[in-house]
Amino acid sequence: MNGEFLPAEQAKVSVFDRGFLLGDGVYEVIPVYEGHSFQLIGHLERLQASLDGVRMNNPMTHIEWQTIIEQLIERNGGGNQSLYLQVTRGVAPRDHVFPQGVKPTAFVMSNPLLAVEEKYKKEGVAAITLPDIRWQNCNIKAITLLPNSLLKQQALEAGAQEALLIRDGYLTEGAASNAYVVIKGTIYTSPKDEKVLPGITREVVIALAAQAGIPLLEQAVTLNELKYADEVWISSSTKEVLPITLLDDDKVGNGFPGPIWQQIDTLYQHYKKDVEAWQ
Ligand code: PDD
Repeated sequence: MNGEFLPAEQAKVSVFDRGFLLGDGVYEVIPVYEGHSFQLIGHLERLQASLDGVRMNNPMTHIEWQTIIEQLIERNGGGNQSLYLQVTRGVAPRDHVFPQGVKPTAFVMSNPLLAVEEKYKKEGVAAITLPDIRWQNCNIKAITLLPNSLLKQQALEAGAQEALLIRDGYLTEGAASNAYVVIKGTIYTSPKDEKVLPGITREVVIALAAQAGIPLLEQAVTLNELKYADEVWISSSTKEVLPITLLDDDKVGNGFPGPIWQQIDTLYQHYKKDVEAWQ
C-alpha cells in the first residue's frame, strides 16, 4: 500500500480517496504460478494504457512495479496466487474535476489463486446473454465495475457462471472475460477496440491458435451466429480458457466442450509450464 508492506487488515485508505468517492481508478489482476507472475509485462503495459486512458500518472516504473510484485509474491509464500493491483487518482476533497498535485494511491494485494475446477473443464459452464450496459471505454480496466457486477449477479441468479454481452446485435465479451466463438473450424473473437477489454489471456490464446495453425479472426459475431456456434469459450487471467456448453438454456454444439477448445486448453497448460521453466 503506497510502498509499504502491511497485513491486509492494516491497509487503509482515506474516505476522501477518489477511488472510494468516484470510482476514479484502474486495476489489474495478475495470476502467479509456482511463484512466477504470468505475462507480467503485458499486464503492466495494459495498466499504462488504462492510466493513459483516464489521464492519470503512473506512480511507478515497470521495474518498480516488478520489484514490489516479486517481493509480494515471496512474502506470501510463492506458489499460485492472484495479484490485484489498483491505482486511484489519490486523496482530495470531493470534486468531479481532477485535483492538482495529488499523489495517486497505489495498492497491490495477493490472494490465493484457486485451481480451475476440473468439473468446469470436463462439462463446461453455463452462460446467458444480456445487453451490454457498460460505457463506451471498455478497453480501460476501470475499477468502476457496477454494470459488470449487476450483469454477473444476474447470470448467477439464472444459474449461469457468466453473462455474454450483446451490443448493437454483436457479441462483445463476458462481464469479466473475453469471449470466443468457433464456427466451422474458425475461432472468432471481438477485435481490440473500445467495446472490449484487451485481455492478456486473449493475447495468449491468439498466439497459441496461430502456432497450432487454427484459423482465428478478430471479428465480432452476431447474436444469431453465437446461438448457432459449434463452440463458445471465455477466457480470463483467473479462469484461463473455459468452454461454455449451455447458452440461454440451449446446448452449445453437442453440449460438451469442443475439440478446438480442448486443443487450445492443452496448449495453454503447456505454455504456463514452459513460461515457469524459463524464469
Ligand atoms: N477480469 N473482459 C473483462 C470485462 C474482464 O473483466 C476481464 C478480466 C477480461 C479478461 O482479461 P484478462 O485475460 O487480462 O484477465 C476481459 C479480471 C480477471 C477481473 O476483473 O477480476
